[in-house]
Amino acid sequence: MCGIVGYIGNNSAKEIIIDGLKKLEYRGYDSAGIALNCNESIEIRKCRGRISNLEAATADKEFDGSVGIGHTRWATHGSPTDENAHPHASMDGSIAVVHNGIIENYTELKEWLTKEYGVVFRSATDTEVIAHLINIYYDGDLLDAVYRAVDKMRGAYAIGVVCSHEPDKLIAVRKDSPLIAGIGDGCNFIASDIPALLKHVRQIYLIENNETVVLTRDRVQIYNQDRKEVKRDVFHVTWDAASAEKEGYEHFMLKEIYEQPKAIEETLNRRLSPDGEICLDGIRLTKQDIEAFTKVYIVACGTAYHAGLIGKYVIEKFARIPVEVDVASEFRYREPFVDDKTLFIAISQSGETLDTLAALREAKARGARVLSVVNVVGSSVARESDDVFYTWAGPEIAVASTKAYTTQLICMYLLALYMGSEKGCLEPELRDELVAGLSELPDKLKSVLRRDSEIQEIARQLYMKTQTFFIGRGTDSAVSYEGSLKLKEISYINSFAVAAGELKHGTIALIDEGTPVVALATQSRLFEKMLSNIEEVKARGAFVVGVAQENCRRLEEQADRTIFIPDCRDEFTPILAVAPLQLFAYHVARLRGCDIDKPKNLAKSVTVE
Ligand code: AGP
Repeated sequence: MCGIVGYIGNNSAKEIIIDGLKKLEYRGYDSAGIALNCNESIEIRKCRGRISNLEAATADKEFDGSVGIGHTRWATHGSPTDENAHPHASMDGSIAVVHNGIIENYTELKEWLTKEYGVVFRSATDTEVIAHLINIYYDGDLLDAVYRAVDKMRGAYAIGVVCSHEPDKLIAVRKDSPLIAGIGDGCNFIASDIPALLKHVRQIYLIENNETVVLTRDRVQIYNQDRKEVKRDVFHVTWDAASAEKEGYEHFMLKEIYEQPKAIEETLNRRLSPDGEICLDGIRLTKQDIEAFTKVYIVACGTAYHAGLIGKYVIEKFARIPVEVDVASEFRYREPFVDDKTLFIAISQSGETLDTLAALREAKARGARVLSVVNVVGSSVARESDDVFYTWAGPEIAVASTKAYTTQLICMYLLALYMGSEKGCLEPELRDELVAGLSELPDKLKSVLRRDSEIQEIARQLYMKTQTFFIGRGTDSAVSYEGSLKLKEISYINSFAVAAGELKHGTIALIDEGTPVVALATQSRLFEKMLSNIEEVKARGAFVVGVAQENCRRLEEQADRTIFIPDCRDEFTPILAVAPLQLFAYHVARLRGCDIDKPKNLAKSVTVE
C-alpha cells in the first residue's frame, strides 16, 4: 500500500519524482524517500512522515540528477522510521530499490544473505533483501541480476531499481502489485498509479504480472515471464491533470462528494441509449448466460462491499437470481458454493485490493464467470475478469471512498435491470420507468448537496460525541453501514450501524441520554416501522437525526433533526441518502481537526493481505 515513482530523462528527477509521490500519498504517507543517480553514485534521502518532510530534506540544489526512484510508504514490515523508509540500498551503495508489496520469504532470505554473504541489514523491512540480492548477483548486467534476485523472492511486489554502475538505466518488475510505465519524449517513467504521471504523459503501458521493464531515456522495453521482449499496446489516459488536483476544495473528499452528480451521470450516460436501451459496454453476458446462472456472488471489501449489499437487493428483485454478498477476506478462505453456473461479481474502486483479487482468482478456479465493477482502468481486477463494468468516477484520491460508491450503485442498478430484461422477468414498462428514475438521480443528488449548510449545523451539534449509531431497514440498513464507516474512518468516532429491527435484540442497551442516532427512513413501505424504531431509541434519550424522502414529513415529529431527500423510487434512495451521511462525516471530522484525506492507519488501496 505504498506508492513508487521513477524517472529517467534530462530534467530534474528530484522535482518530478517528489511531485509524483505527492499525487500518490493516498497510497501511504508514514515515510518517504528518493534515490538519485548523481555523477555515477547513488544518493539517497529518506525520512519519516509526509512528503513535505522529504521536500525539506532534499531542498539543497546539489542533490539532484536526471535518473531516480522515489517511494511513499504505508508500513507493513518495520515501523515508520528513517531507517525503514525506502529506498533501500546494497551494502556498497551501488544498488537502490523502492518496493510496493510484501516479500513473504524475506526472513529466510535475510538469514541466507547474512550467513552466505555476511550482509549486514540496516532496516527491519522485507524490502532491503531485494537490494542485497541484486547486488550479490550483479556481474555487469543489471537486468540479469534483477532476474536472478526475483527468482529468489516470493510474494507481491512492484519494484524500481537504479544502479550506479549503469546510470542510464532504470529497471522495474511487477508481480501482484500495480505498475505502469509512462512514455515521454526523451524521458520515461514508472509509477504505481496514473495520477503520479498525469502532469507529464498521456501514453502509458499497463505492466502485466511477472513482467520486467527496462527504461532508458529513449526506450521502454518490456520482458515477459520467459524473459522475452514483448510488444505492448499503448494505453491512452483520458483523465486530465486537474482531476488529480483539489480545484479549490479544502479536501479531496469534499471535492469528490460534489463530483458525484457528474460521476453518476457519466456512468449512466455511457450505458443508456437515447431511447432508454441499456447497453453494457465491456460486458458480453448473453441471454443464455444470464438464464444459466443459478447464483450471483458479490465479493468486495469496505465501501465496495457496502455497494454489493445494495446490489443484492436490486439483482434479486429485478433479475430474480439468488445473490450472496461476502467480504473478500472471508470468501477466499471459505469453501464457497461456486461453480460454472455462478456469476461472480467483484467490486473494487482501485482494482488492486489484494483480498478481492485473490477471491476473484478463487472463484475463477472454481469455474465461475467473473464480472468486475472497477474504477481504475486497466487495474489487476479488471484485467483478470471475463467482463469489466467501469465506473466512470475519475480518479478518487481521498482515502474515504464516496463517488466510487455511488457510481458502483449505478452499476448495480444497471446490471439488475439488464439481467432482468434479458431474462424477461422485468416488464418493459417497469424497466422504462426505472430507467427514467435513474436518469433523474444526478439532479436530485445536486439538490441534496445544496443542503450542505444544514448538515454542517447538525455536525456542529454532534462532533464532540464519542459514539454514534446508524439504523435503517431494507436498503437503508445497507446505507447505514456505509454512513457509519465514513464517520469511523475519518473522524475516529466509535460508530456502529445496525438493522433497525435488530436494535431491541441487544444494541439498544448502548443508547443513553444524548446518544446520537442517525435513522434512515427512506423506504416508503417501511416508514411506519422506522418511526417505531425511532420512538424506541428516543425513549432511551437518543438524539435522533432522521433522513427521509420529502413526502415523509411526519419524521419531523419524531426526530430531533431531519434531512429530507427528493422523492424517488425506494430502490434508488441509497444514492441520495448516502450524500448527507458523507457530508456529516466530513464536517464532523473537519470540526475535530482530523486529516480527512489521509486518515490515520488507512490507505487508499490495500494491496497486502
Ligand atoms: C472506504 O472509504 C475505504 N477506503 C475502504 O474501505 C475501501 O472501500 C476498501 O479498501 C476497498 O477498496 P477498493 O474499492 O479499492 O477495492
